[in-house]
Amino acid sequence: MRDYLNFNSYSFSDEEKRELMDTLDSGWITTGPKTKRFEEDFAKYVRSDHAIGVTSGTAALHLSIVGLGIEQGDEVITTPMTFVATINSILYASAKPVLADIDPDTMNIDPREIRKKITKRTKAIIPVHYAGQPCKMDEILAIAKENNLFVICDAAHAIETEYKGMKIGSMGNAACFSFHPIKNITTGEGGMVTTNESSLADRVRVIRLHGMDKTAWRRYEKGQFRHWDMEYLGFKYNMTDIQASLGIQQLKKIDDFWNKRKEYSDRYDSHFKGIKNIITLPPPGIGSKNAYDLYPIRVKTENLKMTRDEIIDAIQADNIGVGVHFRAVHLLSYYKRYFGAECEAFPNAEYASDRLISLPLYPKMTPGDIDYVADVVKKVVCKNQ
Ligand SMILES: Cc1ncc(COP(=O)(O)O)c(C=O)c1O
Repeated sequence: MRDYLNFNSYSFSDEEKRELMDTLDSGWITTGPKTKRFEEDFAKYVRSDHAIGVTSGTAALHLSIVGLGIEQGDEVITTPMTFVATINSILYASAKPVLADIDPDTMNIDPREIRKKITKRTKAIIPVHYAGQPCKMDEILAIAKENNLFVICDAAHAIETEYKGMKIGSMGNAACFSFHPIKNITTGEGGMVTTNESSLADRVRVIRLHGMDKTAWRRYEKGQFRHWDMEYLGFKYNMTDIQASLGIQQLKKIDDFWNKRKEYSDRYDSHFKGIKNIITLPPPGIGSKNAYDLYPIRVKTENLKMTRDEIIDAIQADNIGVGVHFRAVHLLSYYKRYFGAECEAFPNAEYASDRLISLPLYPKMTPGDIDYVADVVKKVVCKNQ
């Protein structure tokens, strides 16, 4: 039997190690010059005016929501097909998450469903660019404009994503990125808020560090002590220079990583083409770019003798790591209790939720690994139809 193939693995080499050592030797390891450099490089990459480095994608979402003034009594529309962080961060701000069903093909939020959910209390829409595919931003931005709503992109999967030639990080009021180790580039843990609005950038910068005024982080530098003020109630979400060291070097490789994942994603697609009970993602629309953060398939269990979880067990038995992105949020225990009897059905999200399996997709894999995974998946599915 082959060695275990991890579901995911990051790619670090000498460049990351050198940058990290340089930071450790510099005498400054928390938010400082490396964070500033990573923010500038990242803003340039996603073509936004501002980027603010934070501790996670979750922190980026929380800070954007609070930074835009969303609070108790406000409603925020988002998708059930996401990681809990999207919805949790709405609750952290004491606002109310309102779910809208997904498009069955891309599994991105369906703009027609968003329209149905707008009330007098709606303040924002959080589209999640699922697996790196762009949401229908023209329609979402039009709905937001008509109804005076903010748009905060959950771009945890979408650093490289483009919609009609525009990078997601430059769309809407803010975009929130994650550098968790299973993301396209990693800083161990980490995140970024990008925005073209200077006032929002200023507010997020202040509330990412307790609400202390802007340059308080420099107070321990030589000759820099001065009294600081606390303007707002903020959080402890500042990115460190240790994280940023990894980010600076990872970002330089992002397009090479993307090329590999695209090649592998296309290779999986050709394996699964014409296989009856496996659904893959549609190709990106014209002018759009998928970040290929994940390779999710849906197994049509209605035609199979096995459940999705039994199929996962069979794939794992052949030494392959897999994931599920995602089980629809409203089906998890906490959110079942939270939405309670009020919770309606989201048929497209529920269909996907019971059938999704994410297959390994990362640059360190070889074409032979992709062929092996695809052959195992086809064998399991075809034997059980
Ligand atoms: C869609 C989505 N949003 C938000 C997050 C949160 O990112 P982090 O883990 O960096 O807090 C994730 C992380 O997996 C995610 O997949």
